[in-house]
Amino acid sequence: MRSYSLIAPAKINLYLEIIGDRTDGYHELAMVMQSIDLADQVDIIGSGDERMRVHCQSLEVPNDKTNLAYRAAELMAKNFPDAFAKYGGVDITIHKHIPVAAGLAGGSTNAAAVLVGIDLLWNLGLTQIEIEELGASLGSDVPFCIRGGTAIATGRGEQLSPILGLENVYIVLGKHKNLAVSTPWAYKSYRTVYGDTYIRDKGDLAVRANAVHSAPMVQAIIHRDIPEICQRLHNDLEKVVLPEYSQVSQLRTAFTAAGALGTMMSGSGPSVFAICESKVHAESIQQQISQEVADKDLELFITKFISHGIQVLSPQ
Ligand code: C5P
Repeated sequence: MRSYSLIAPAKINLYLEIIGDRTDGYHELAMVMQSIDLADQVDIIGSGDERMRVHCQSLEVPNDKTNLAYRAAELMAKNFPDAFAKYGGVDITIHKHIPVAAGLAGGSTNAAAVLVGIDLLWNLGLTQIEIEELGASLGSDVPFCIRGGTAIATGRGEQLSPILGLENVYIVLGKHKNLAVSTPWAYKSYRTVYGDTYIRDKGDLAVRANAVHSAPMVQAIIHRDIPEICQRLHNDLEKVVLPEYSQVSQLRTAFTAAGALGTMMSGSGPSVFAICESKVHAESIQQQISQEVADKDLELFITKFISHGIQVLSPQ
């Protein structure tokens, strides 16, 4: 039986604006997403029976139905019953490198890899758009994780417009190991405090979402203007997460003091990224932070912007 190994990159949000409510209980967003080369490896092989199984050495990663990767396999079985009957279930092995519950879409990118992997394993021949549509039903970030690179994301975050992005921009990423922020909590808290500022009119919402296409952040990316990108970093969820999690705001302050060009929390946090001039600059910031923030719980990664999403290593 063939098997596939897939590279599943994490993402950061260079821009995250919450613009309104949705009838499905989610939020209307205007975002700019960026893939980074901090990635998990996901191996997929036929299980030889009807079962789907998830294996992962990391104790933080569940191996049951609560794992989005497992749900991705179930979704494929449900949507393609003939292929499932022919090929059977899959064993999914996740080699975890992306911090869990960090605002880096670690779970979403694993699910994205499972969709792409099963499409290949079961010879389904789906288009990328079709796989992205399936992914949207699993989580708002899954379509972006499949496509990757640099993209504007609107709607729930699943409507994507690619931007000719930047590669090889180095960042230092910081995440406290024992700190996890619940994404539903972050959005709910935001709604409680800022809900009365939401745009209610459908037409106005569409205009605001559309405005992100010509927003200064997008212009800065198109013009490859790193200092301007750093000026335009924005994340509305910081307004609720930073006051509640002092380690996150302290890390942000420390990155700025260490000379980062720009710094911001990613997604609902708690990870924080710092944009650097070069790899050498990133190494120097990493060293300064590990000395100054004497916290054994803090993990620091040097990584960089990349222009792809899920990548298939050669079949084995
Ligand atoms: O789509 P996903 O399952 O990743 O979203 C996790 C949670 O984040 C949702 O249950 C919801 O509480 C919140 N969310 C939201 N609006 C979005 C995306 C996520 O309120 N556009």
